[in-house]
Amino acid sequence: MTVWVGTSWKMNKTLAEAKRYAAELLEGLDRRQLGAVQPFIIPPATALSAVAGVLNGDDRVLLGAQNAHWDDDGAWTGEVSVPQVADAGARLVEIGHSERRGNFGETDETVRLKVAAALRHGLTPLLCVGEPAEVKDAGGSSGFILQQVARALEGLREEQLSRVLIAYEPIWSIGSAGRAADPEELREPFAALSEAWGEQVAGLLYGGSVAPDNAAGLLGIPHVDGLFVGRAAWEVDGYLRLLDIAAETTGSGNRPAQDVRTNN
Ligand code: PGA
Repeated sequence: MTVWVGTSWKMNKTLAEAKRYAAELLEGLDRRQLGAVQPFIIPPATALSAVAGVLNGDDRVLLGAQNAHWDDDGAWTGEVSVPQVADAGARLVEIGHSERRGNFGETDETVRLKVAAALRHGLTPLLCVGEPAEVKDAGGSSGFILQQVARALEGLREEQLSRVLIAYEPIWSIGSAGRAADPEELREPFAALSEAWGEQVAGLLYGGSVAPDNAAGLLGIPHVDGLFVGRAAWEVDGYLRLLDIAAETTGSGNRPAQDVRTNN
């Protein structure tokens, strides 16, 4: 079973910073055996091609885009298409992050169209879902996210579903305004997601304030197949540390001979 551990850099990093991160990540991976852990990194669109150049086809790291339009081309000022991000080196597309739903008007319908576009072009959709605090407080977490997923994946065939990754990212736990979730409060939503979709999709990930001190606990929640990380992985040392924790927790791979934390 693949353990997915990835990071979106959101709106961060110059080209020089992005290339340095990618190069240091490859160096770090040279010193590790991560077993079933599959790293993925999602730079801003401006840095995709430069990062792909550094990765140079190294399939230890899956490269992703933070967004892509549902149309293949056309008069969509400011947007990038799935063929364009694929051309720049992306093999995965993040779709429906709450920052995009909340700030840029993404709806369940545009999310559905984008998932279909990613699949049409052979990229892995990383579908993000998550409920706001009010919904959680009212006990509606599972129902809310199941509805988001159902709308996003409506009409897909079995083979298409098998290429989809789902990241459950409760809005109340994301970013500097969020709080780290207690694994106990994530059990039920993951059980619900797993029951409805676990057999059909490629994996169920958790995201929101993931950090070295909570990563092992989060990976221990039943049905969690990986972690989707923001801030704690924006420096490559932090990301490598999370990859090590994932490899240790899931019993895959070996720690490097030298302590990575003093070696980077
Ligand atoms: P965070 O971001 O780890 O910084 O909370 C998570 C996300 O938005 O995916």
